Amino acid sequence: MTDSSSASGYKPKIDTSVPQGARVWNYWLGGKDNYPVDRTVGDQVMAMFPDITRIARLQRSFLARAIQYLAGEAGIRQFLDIGTGLPTANNTHEVAQAIAPESRIVYVDNDPLVLVHARALLTSTPEGACDYIDADVREPDKILAEAAKTLDFTRPVALMMLGILGQIPDSDGPQAIVKRLLDAVPSGSYLAISDGVDTSETVTEAIRHYNENSGNTYHLRSPEQITGFFDGLELVEPGIVSLTRWRPEATPFPDPDDVPGMCGVGRKP
Ligand SMILES: C[S@@+](CC[C@H](N)C(=O)[O-])C[C@H]1O[C@@H](n2cnc3c(N)ncnc32)[C@H](O)[C@@H]1O
Repeated sequence: MTDSSSASGYKPKIDTSVPQGARVWNYWLGGKDNYPVDRTVGDQVMAMFPDITRIARLQRSFLARAIQYLAGEAGIRQFLDIGTGLPTANNTHEVAQAIAPESRIVYVDNDPLVLVHARALLTSTPEGACDYIDADVREPDKILAEAAKTLDFTRPVALMMLGILGQIPDSDGPQAIVKRLLDAVPSGSYLAISDGVDTSETVTEAIRHYNENSGNTYHLRSPEQITGFFDGLELVEPGIVSLTRWRPEATPFPDPDDVPGMCGVGRKP
């Protein structure tokens, strides 16, 4: 684990007085790594927009399908998963290494509770490798330098950015962060994104409530803004679509309705 603080026995400080995004997301996914404050705001958002739990599960399902495509058809063996979240079912390394045991995965998150639970993300196959970096996505140079200890940046890498760019306001330059990361990986690398979109007034209101009552904020974007993150990349079919419409044939029970969450995968030419 690339974290000098935990290696020295330092325990990250967990603030249980203010809701945190990683823990609220864990609650919506049915996990147990959350506190009463997280459940309170989580319940309030669910009351305003009941489909939020469905979107959380659909995003995890997209993660699995995207990795199945990347590790399978696309032959990718290296993954940089930024905004990992608390460990849950089908973590990136489990899906990738089930297909290609030699896969190498680096996880990145800035939430102290994710750091506490990071060992559950480091259960690599002997042939592959897993590492965890405690870092903010707004520090792409630090992330790239640390990740280079595990990943070979002369070979293709899949950048997994699910539910993370929405955490970054426009004023912090999410487009420039994506560009910096893409500039560091070679041709044949991929970018996968999933985030909420501002096409539903109900969701916009629910997210406004979340932002007013949480320790961090989430920023819905237009479908065009999400599409803009893929500038210069070749989109993998079916393009940038509702979470329910990205290769649904790979799911046992496809969900036909559009949701205000979009996703896509692009290849660096
Ligand atoms: C909505 S969750 C998504 C988790 C996972 N990618 C998924 O799709 O299930 C967002 C994650 O991003 C992390 N995060 C939020 N802001 C971040 C930042 N500035 N830098 C790094 N991670 C961040 C949170 O701690 C949380 O674990």
